[in-house]
Amino acid sequence: MEVKGCAVITGASSGIGRELARRLAAEGWPLVLCARREEALRALAVELEKSCGVHCGMVAADLGTEEGTETLLRALEERELGVFVNCAGFGLAGSFAETELSRELEMLDVNVRAVLVLTKHVLRRMKAQGHGCLLNVASSAGLLPAGPFLSAYYASKAYAASLTQAIHEELREEKSPVRVSCLCPGPVDTEFNAVANVRFALPGITAAYCADCALRGLARGQAVIVPSLRMKLAVAGARFVPRGLLVRLTAGQQRKKL
Ligand SMILES: NC(=O)c1ccc[n+]([C@@H]2O[C@H](COP(=O)([O-])OP(=O)(O)OC[C@H]3O[C@@H](n4cnc5c(N)ncnc54)[C@H](OP(=O)(O)O)[C@@H]3O)[C@@H](O)[C@H]2O)c1
Repeated sequence: MEVKGCAVITGASSGIGRELARRLAAEGWPLVLCARREEALRALAVELEKSCGVHCGMVAADLGTEEGTETLLRALEERELGVFVNCAGFGLAGSFAETELSRELEMLDVNVRAVLVLTKHVLRRMKAQGHGCLLNVASSAGLLPAGPFLSAYYASKAYAASLTQAIHEELREEKSPVRVSCLCPGPVDTEFNAVANVRFALPGITAAYCADCALRGLARGQAVIVPSLRMKLAVAGARFVPRGLLVRLTAGQQRKKL
């Protein structure tokens, strides 16, 4: 992708977001890194300014709050937005009757509300600029009908996947120069498991490999990017399995993670 403006990454303090930041910096993009942990953002900014010679701005903000999304949008007011990645997010495991409602509401604020608000504002800015690429990090969970034992997380990622695919089609119909893609990985080795309190039933891919696939797919203008052949086959195969059976099979996989 031609470097024009800056690249903004939410959830840049760890995992997939941090690797996306490393790759975009290596391509020469000036960055704006956003997450809550300021120290982790600072360490990454110092690393990338040294190794890639790009300027790295930081916005420490809780995107689960209205104030947090506003702080990020205010910090970007004067910037040209070449790439924007909505990567911040987390999961919550357990049987639905037992999981904490307050934590689920926090999750919806980050995985759904912040994605909606930031996508709307950033897309308008990119359309006005006449260029830009927006990447929303959903999950392969978002392409499946439901995920027992990670129920609200699956539902939140279905929202992100559905929203992003719809916008992709609207932009395609308008022949817009702005691109929107949805990243839908299966298991990736990051801090996700510790935060969601699960362990993967299947081996995960590395965040670095996931970030490489994401940026290749974004550059190609793919609507949905599913890294790894195994996950691509699983997602494609799922289309031929009756919905009820698929939910039961997903429940079996998810139960193993608890
Ligand atoms: N790992 C997987 O298997 C997998 C698979 C499919 C999709 N995903 C998705 O990929 C995205 C990145 O996850 P990851 O695997 O890289 O996990 P991770 O290592 O736990 O990273 C999550 C990132 O989100 C940020 N974040 C969480 N809550 C936030 C908040 N309230 N405000 C601002 N930032 C917040 C965290 O930063 P702070 O804690 O510093 O705020 C961190 O940088 C998530 O949306 C996740 O759902 C992950």
